[in-house]
Amino acid sequence: MFMNPHIIRIVMLLAAILPAHSTVFAQAPESKEVTWDQVKPVFQKRCFACHRGEQSRGGLDLSTVGGIKAGSTSGAAVVAGKPEQSMIYTLPAHLENPQMPPNSAKLPQRELDLIYGWIQGGLSEKVTVASAAGSGASRPSRPVMNRPKTLSMRPAMPKTRTVMEASADSSAGNAADASADKKGDLKKTVKTLSHMVTAVAASPTASLVAVAGHREVTIFQWTDQSRVTSIPFPAGDIFVLRFSRDGSVLLVGGGIGGVSGKTMGFDVATGAVVFETGEESDVVLAADISPNGMLVAVGGPSRLVRIYNTVTGEKVADIRRHTDWILSAAFSNDGLLLATGDRFGSVQIWEAATGSPFHTLRGHSGAIHELQWAADSNTAISASEDGTLRIWDMHEGVQRQVLPGEVGGILATDAEATGRFIAGGRAGKIRVWNSPGNLQREITMADEVTTLAITQDGTHVIAADVTGNVELYNLESGKNVGTFVLP
Ligand code: HEC
Repeated sequence: MFMNPHIIRIVMLLAAILPAHSTVFAQAPESKEVTWDQVKPVFQKRCFACHRGEQSRGGLDLSTVGGIKAGSTSGAAVVAGKPEQSMIYTLPAHLENPQMPPNSAKLPQRELDLIYGWIQGGLSEKVTVASAAGSGASRPSRPVMNRPKTLSMRPAMPKTRTVMEASADSSAGNAADASADKKGDLKKTVKTLSHMVTAVAASPTASLVAVAGHREVTIFQWTDQSRVTSIPFPAGDIFVLRFSRDGSVLLVGGGIGGVSGKTMGFDVATGAVVFETGEESDVVLAADISPNGMLVAVGGPSRLVRIYNTVTGEKVADIRRHTDWILSAAFSNDGLLLATGDRFGSVQIWEAATGSPFHTLRGHSGAIHELQWAADSNTAISASEDGTLRIWDMHEGVQRQVLPGEVGGILATDAEATGRFIAGGRAGKIRVWNSPGNLQREITMADEVTTLAITQDGTHVIAADVTGNVELYNLESGKNVGTFVLP
């Protein structure tokens, strides 16, 4: 028997709130849609004095939906659909500290219910018809970004929803308004994606590369593009491939959209499963294995960053701060920090061992598809759909440099200890820099570059495009010197 998901949600919610707030039974808020024009007057009356515009306290501007989504200086203030995880609800409801407004009585229940309903409904930016007419507003604003009904990752169309498409959403200015157009796009995407290669990885120690296929990973000898072996990944579609730093383990992450996700570690020599972590309730879109192989970090549409111990299988951290799908994750080379990036464009830095927040890095205006670390772990580099690469200083938590990628929205990167950096993107181009700003070469592929990896000896790059071509290029000459054929 299946329980109505709506009921499950309320039960879970009660479980989350009850200890702190046992009168909740009397007040379980109704879930009819609350729109921005209904909730705004509450913020106006109770919060604007300190949270409006440039001078906002805590860096949190509550006067616009954009400001609310951007969060405070310390991170996310709202999680769409999850009022009990959203500070703009929990603080005024006195469920968490610091209570808001400071040194004041709790807001009236009716106002709290409005905030609650607005978050639960997915932060609707809509204006209700009545109030639009009343206020003379001529044009209702767009419906919400976080609830793209026609596009959500549902089991019915597992192959249609990928990082690529996720980023298409956000690059379109988060507009889910043109649902008719989207349906058209979707058909096209379904066709394209049945061949799309979502991930490749290169061994750091041997002349092996791994290529994601349909529920299996194929390992090739890149030097002659011969197939070595295929490893099944029964958990679903594959979105992440990473070799451990010693080359002994291949991390595979993925799952079934909206249903389940996990990561598995395989012994590269034997194909045996070394570890399996995370029974996620949604697909894994981002994952990395720590330099010593002890930790695996995962993220995806759940917006939670989870860190697992690969030896004990225990969950080390379960952290929410991202306000949108997590699309990228990378441990620093010294293993102390973890960087994660989301579809909204923010990057979070965590202490790897504990999951404690370290820095929030804002600046990008598009999804973060890739994160890399400098060899010394003092700087991290983020690559975004907005077309730029940003270099961040880890001591200060500030941006050091913005570099144009000039490959379109950036979907794929790789870096070497020498400082050499490669990026590929939507313009179908791959660029290679010997150091920041020092371009070595440009390579053109047939279509959008979805994923790439530099070979262990630094002489070649393996790259895949959106139509499923997987090619080998010589970095010295820029020439295409081989093609990988999936079984
Ligand atoms: C009298 C001024 C004042 C009012 C009114 C006020 N706040 Fe705040 N708020 C602050 C200050 C100051 C901070 C920074 C607190 C800190 O440094 O931790 C803050 C921080 C916050 C934060 C971020 C906390 C964090 O840890 O990042 C949230 C969320 C917040 N306020 C929500 C609200 C909401 C919602 C309202 C209205 C219901 C409200 N505040 C009304 C002064 C105010």
